[in-house]
Amino acid sequence: MLVILKRDNEGVNEQAAQLIAGSVKKKPSLTLGLATGSTMVGLYQHLVRLHKSGSLDFSRVVTFNLDEYLGLSATHPQSFHHFMHEHFFRHVNVLARNIHIPDGSIRGDYDAYCASYEQAIRAAGGIDLQLLGIGRNGHIGFNEPTSSLASRTRLKVLSRETLDDNSKFFAPGEESPRCAVTMGIGTILEARKVLLLATGASKAAAVAKSIEGPITSGVSASALQLHPDVTFLLDELAAAQLTQRDYYHRVLEMTALLTPDRLS
Ligand code: F6R
Repeated sequence: MLVILKRDNEGVNEQAAQLIAGSVKKKPSLTLGLATGSTMVGLYQHLVRLHKSGSLDFSRVVTFNLDEYLGLSATHPQSFHHFMHEHFFRHVNVLARNIHIPDGSIRGDYDAYCASYEQAIRAAGGIDLQLLGIGRNGHIGFNEPTSSLASRTRLKVLSRETLDDNSKFFAPGEESPRCAVTMGIGTILEARKVLLLATGASKAAAVAKSIEGPITSGVSASALQLHPDVTFLLDELAAAQLTQRDYYHRVLEMTALLTPDRLS
């Protein structure tokens, strides 16, 4: 596990964009797992800038998003389809046929749909690099606390904390979705490489539990301790409750010296 500590949000976005751009340059046909949420907005701006400056080509990249609200059409302003289109896809050259986002408008036969999403990931050769944010309760994707660490893409009932976090984005009086379609923790752990971004004080407890706490279904992101190639990219506020910050700095220095490829 690599823990990279940056001063602020901007430092996190810049480094994340560099890591993703480096991965696309090494493998232009990269299969990239994507996330939504406020943490990702600045990162997508950086990637768009790199693309517009001519230094990042997504024409062969294949993408799979982690999750989508159940019951929202792709055009709903709070849908993750809409988020991805507005913040990323409409500005870059990912081909429409290479974009995969779980369909929130499915009704019935949920298991068959979720199995087909897993099958599409396998058919693409698996995810090379999975980007993650983290919820205040430690969720990754919409794998809420108590999710099975072996879970696959499925429907998930959203926790009270997540409902509260999300309700402010919906119009007054509009009921926000209570369920989502999400890749499972088992699905995420199969990605070859994982990059988790966290910024801001509200994430500090979840980050510390995920990196330094026990592996438990009570904190979904703690399952990442089982992954052989995971990088946490954190700003100072999100890293505030970590007890081993000095060690992470030294690991980073030695990584830069001995295996710099890991950082590009
Ligand atoms: C979204 C997702 C979620 C978010 C998490 C953090 O696709 O998978 O796990 O990454 O809820 O959201 P923000 O960044 O809005 O705090």
